Amino acid sequence: MKRQHIVAGNWKMNKSFEEGKDLAEAVAAGLNESDTIAILAPPFIHLSAVSMTVQQKLNLKLAAQNCHQEQGGAYTGEISIDMLKSVGVEYVILGHSERREYFGEEATLLAKKVDAVLAAGLKPIFCCGEKLPIREAGTHTELVSDQIKGALFHLSAEAFADVVIAYEPVWAIGTGVTASPEQAQEMHAVIRQLVAGQYGAEVADATTILYGGSVKPANAKELFSQPDVDGGLVGGASLKPDDFLAIIDSF
Ligand code: 13P
Repeated sequence: MKRQHIVAGNWKMNKSFEEGKDLAEAVAAGLNESDTIAILAPPFIHLSAVSMTVQQKLNLKLAAQNCHQEQGGAYTGEISIDMLKSVGVEYVILGHSERREYFGEEATLLAKKVDAVLAAGLKPIFCCGEKLPIREAGTHTELVSDQIKGALFHLSAEAFADVVIAYEPVWAIGTGVTASPEQAQEMHAVIRQLVAGQYGAEVADATTILYGGSVKPANAKELFSQPDVDGGLVGGASLKPDDFLAIIDSF
């Protein structure tokens, strides 16, 4: 299996219902047919409307920003994976640094969510990444390796094949400070080697590893030209259709 080019837009907690529909329509209208998969990750409440739009294009897909790990039942305020699946969601972002920071999500819970997503036939976009003090201390590769091992390495090679990894250094998220192409490449190569050690070179070579953190039209081309960078997970710039489309066209 060949690894894929993916550009995913994480809208986070932004956009009203109408604004969200307009944004999705604008992306669909401007999206060129290509081998790059574009993914929209709107807030839960917009998913079913955006799903209609996503269906217009073969290379446009729908993601949720989170899910609950249980199948259903008495979990007030939560959203199950079957609900997501029933509105056309194919990917679920898990372990985003904002979920880790503000909602206390860590490896044990994330491993359960990863299992539940895969069991339902959906694909996790598993986020990892270090905060600035860790980068400054020079222990970033250890931390990211531990995040990946702790939440993913219980999987079989067959299950792991459906996982997308997103490296998002926390110091680059929403700050305008992007990791340099060399910094991104270095960590992506470490991640791919780690995967190779656990699952073998073939699985590692087929694993899609995205970079996230202040990706913009101005830096996407250089980042995506790195040998181990297979695309991006985009926050702020995914809220502007022209910017998001330009990033998608950066391969
Ligand atoms: P920004 O692109 O706004 O830095 O956000 C990145 C991100 O967190 C995507 O999940």
